[in-house]
Amino acid sequence: MSDQEKNKGAPGSGGRGARFAGAMDEAAARLNASIDFDRRLLRDDVRGSQAHARMLAAVGLLSQDDAKRIVAGLDQVAGEFERGERQMDAALEDVHMNVESRLIEIVGDAGRRLHTARSRNDQVATDMRLYALSAAASIVVGIDKTRVALVRRAREHAGTLLPGYTHLQRAQAVTLGHHLLAYAEMLGRDRGRFLDAARRASECPLGSGALAATSLPIDREKTSADLGFAGPTHNSMDAVSDRDFCAELAFACALLGVHLSRFGEELVLWSTSEFGFVRLPDGYCSGSSLMPQKRNPDVAELLRAKPGRLIGDVVALLTVGKGLALAYNKDLQESQEPFYDAIETTHLVLNVLPRLIAGLEFQPERMKEAASDPALGATDLAEHLVRDGVPFRRAHEIVGKLVRHAERLGVSLRDVPDHDLQQIAPELQSATLQALSASRSVAGRAILGGPAPAEVMRELHRLAAELQGRGYEV
Ligand code: ARG
Repeated sequence: MSDQEKNKGAPGSGGRGARFAGAMDEAAARLNASIDFDRRLLRDDVRGSQAHARMLAAVGLLSQDDAKRIVAGLDQVAGEFERGERQMDAALEDVHMNVESRLIEIVGDAGRRLHTARSRNDQVATDMRLYALSAAASIVVGIDKTRVALVRRAREHAGTLLPGYTHLQRAQAVTLGHHLLAYAEMLGRDRGRFLDAARRASECPLGSGALAATSLPIDREKTSADLGFAGPTHNSMDAVSDRDFCAELAFACALLGVHLSRFGEELVLWSTSEFGFVRLPDGYCSGSSLMPQKRNPDVAELLRAKPGRLIGDVVALLTVGKGLALAYNKDLQESQEPFYDAIETTHLVLNVLPRLIAGLEFQPERMKEAASDPALGATDLAEHLVRDGVPFRRAHEIVGKLVRHAERLGVSLRDVPDHDLQQIAPELQSATLQALSASRSVAGRAILGGPAPAEVMRELHRLAAELQGRGYEV
């Protein structure tokens, strides 16, 4: 048996060639192999190799015939693996070796020329960037669909009153439309973060070789353009050895997740009997195996919980990258799992949101009742005094006293007796107190970015126009 034959079949022995006398130790090979997770790169690996083959033919390093055979052979390889007609072999270590070795079985010597002027180091760096770019693009679509759902519900509830909270204490009345659009804003910034990270990831490492490029006359511009990158990378050592784009995207996922966890938490709170602001659709609740009456908001709880792992993924990615001497180190392989986890978790979460949001059964009566607490008008009273020329700090004090007094009497702000009002706050008329109402309060805050229904509608139009501009029906 030749050395090569001996090596074949040992798990994780991909790329050893004739250099070694013996096969890799089995436990070591299992540690070394990445096939269990890098199989996700199959499509991108094939695309990258096809572009590389076309380029090799264009510069004369490969015959046009061989290039055609390779391109068609690679399509066949991808199809076989995808349809499950063929299993990836752990003995071949990774997706790159699995694809190449099957290609060689199919097209013979032409396949042996594919790896000309290429290393698995620039290959995997390219594959992961391609993967990152399509992941970012589909996450952006998921974000937009979620924003469409938010905007629609906000339009429906532009005038629905509810208390706004700080410290989870009732603060001032707002509108549900305004509340929902707060999330549309967060998600709008998240969207920008994905696009921004994608822009930086859009450089093609092919041609960087193992670390020091190649002496062969390849055309890096061509492969880069063929694969849809903005351009080739500018330093071969950097290109093969940085996974900053993974960390950036994982961070964008984590922050998106943090935003969505706030939404999840509000759904959990709002669906309690204590709040009663929303009823979650049946399809998003689970029952209890013991208590027959339960409707548990599991999905909302998982929206709240998933960022835990997303944040973990970012930490893992940063930790793997720190302290790595240039250029490629096998540590970089350890970037793959947290990166995929971040992308896949984000997809999982985004996939559930548009229909969940569309199906939320808001309870405007409960919200309105909670917002009718006259104490929520305290700030309006202070602003009323400011309009009459009272300095704000003084106005704050006057209204504060009044609130304390009402509390002591056990009455609402509206029902403080006239005589007491004259004593505590002669600047205020009882008619002003009588006139306190959540709807008037909200309507008065029609300033840019405020909760008044008119302003919510204006913001809605802006967001709807943005989304319609990208072809969404809002
Ligand atoms: N699975 C490897 C990774 O993710 C591919 C590159 C292997 N390169 C090497 N020099 N062993 O980094």
